[in-house]
Formats: sequence, C-alpha cells, structure tokens
Amino acid sequence: MHLSKYFLTTINNYDNMKLFGVLGDPISHSLSPVMHNAAFCALGMDCSYHAFRVKPDSLEYAIKGAGALGFGGLNLTIPLKEKALGIVEPTEMAKNIGAVNTVELKNGIVGHNTDGIGAQMALTDRGIGITGKNVLVLGAGGAARAIAFQLAKDGASVTIANRTVERAQALARDVSKIGDVRASGFDGLKEMIRDTDVLINSTSVGMSPNTPGTLVTSDMMHPDLTVFDIVYNPLKTRLLLEAEKAGAATIDGVMMLVYQGAEAFKIWTGISPPVDVMEKAVRDALGSQHNVAGACVGV
Ligand code: ATR
Repeated sequence: MHLSKYFLTTINNYDNMKLFGVLGDPISHSLSPVMHNAAFCALGMDCSYHAFRVKPDSLEYAIKGAGALGFGGLNLTIPLKEKALGIVEPTEMAKNIGAVNTVELKNGIVGHNTDGIGAQMALTDRGIGITGKNVLVLGAGGAARAIAFQLAKDGASVTIANRTVERAQALARDVSKIGDVRASGFDGLKEMIRDTDVLINSTSVGMSPNTPGTLVTSDMMHPDLTVFDIVYNPLKTRLLLEAEKAGAATIDGVMMLVYQGAEAFKIWTGISPPVDVMEKAVRDALGSQHNVAGACVGV
C-alpha cells in the first residue's frame, strides 16, 4: 500500500506526540521498539516507543503511571502478561486466554490480547482462511492458548496436541466454550496430520540454541499442508525445512510477531500500520542480532 495514504490518515486523526512502551523482564531482546518505531516513522507520526524493564511487583504502578504520564499505549511481555489481568479491565478474549499483551490507555485501562489475532492475520496474509479448516496446534502453553481460542472463534476445527496431554485437555476444555476443539498427546501425530490443513507449532521446540529440534518430520507431512512455526529464531526452523521437503507451504514466526504488533498499533491509534515496513524492521533486526533470547511469541 502506498505510504501517502498513511500520511493522510495520520494528519487527520493523530497529531499529538505520544510515548509508547513494552514492559517486561528481561526486555533488552524485545523487537517491539524497532518494529513500532519503524511504523511511526513511515507514517510521519510524532510518536516514540521504548522498552522498560519492570518487575511483576511494580506492574500496577508502571501501567497506572504510564496512563498518568499520557502514554499512548503499552505492550506487556514475560513475566507480566498474566499478572496484568488483575490490574486492567480485560477484554473477553484476554480473559479467556488468561493473559494481556496490549494495554489501551484511552478510555480507562483496557487489557487486550493480540497474539491470537496475530496468528490468524499471518495466515490470512498468505491467503489461508481458517473457517471450516482442520488445524493442529502443537503445544498448550501461553502462545497455544491465544492461538487455539482465536482459531476456535474463527470457526476452525482445532486439535491441540501437547507433550503433557493433561495440559492439552485443560486447554481444550476452556476453548470448547467457544468452538470445536479436541485434545491429544503426541501419539498418532502422523495420522492426525493426514487430515490436517494447517499445522501450527506453538511450542518452543526448534528455538535457538536447540535448532535441530522438531516435533514433526517431512515423512509425516503432505503437500496440501500449511506449516506455521511461531518460533522466529532461527527464521527457518527445522520444522519449516522439513515442511519444504514435503512440499508444504510455510509461514515463519516473524509474521505473528508483526501482526500482533499491528493489531496493538490499531488499538492504540485507530490507524492500520504499514505491515511491510514493520516486517522489514524485524527481519533486519534479526539479521543483525546473533542471539535473540526467548525468540518465540511475544513482543
Ligand atoms: P509459552 O507461554 O511461550 O507458550 P510455555 O507456557 O512454557 O511457554 O509452553 C511451552 C510449550 O512448549 C508447552 O506446550 C510445552 O509442553 P509441556 O506442556 O508438555 O511442557 C512445549 N514444549 C517445550 N519443550 C518441549 C519439548 N522438548 N518437547 C515437546 N514440547 C515441548
């Protein structure tokens, strides 16, 4: 999309200097400042986004302080996402997921979770609709929760497979309130994948430094499958290499990071940011960082 469209929107709707931030601990690895500042810059917005190291005990002061200081919005990352639920007014989705990654400070203090929509938009971006599709989610942690709730809401038929099957069952129980879902362990994964349209790895398996790790190999996949790995360090995980070998379509973890950020940006400013600019900023930053800690889901 041409940038002049963004400039016009900016001039009409958003002309105040604003600060934005991501809170977490550790926080130095966060790619959010680079990503959001690139978008603000491309849009000619007088806004600036910074990373703040905040411990859980200080979270309430930090959020309320940011509100009092006139911040435009916040992101939250590990270990603050769950604790924030008791501080902000969570949306239904954030409550369901049990975590907040985006705080809106405009009308009260509202806590959103944009991780699920980030995953959904990463798929949509590649022309993959979710409604009526069989989606296999590997993992049952925080990332899997966000993804499974969003997919079920969008009408997918969701299977959650996790190493610890009880955790998959607990998540499936929660998600079943809003959609079609079942739980599994890893036994029979190959058979499950035969009927799967979209496979999403939302575990940390394959993340640097354990790059040879994968839960699924090419012999378990088929060419009509789309394989989406939320891990973005390395960009091309072993799972994605195996998917390529099988002739399956692949989506890497950068897209979820970018789209969860784009959704937060929209919540704060009412403006759709230039996703291509954000993606380039993240890919450039990853290219120049040799060791991005915790390079999986999160801002
Ligand atoms: P996050 O919030 O980033 O999703 P998490 O809550 O710690 O992190 O969840 C990590 C996920 O990766 C879990 O599904 C975990 O499986 P368990 O629930 O069985 O622990 C999964 N995971 C991590 N290491 C794994 C491994 N070596 N093999 C299989 N699954 C693994």
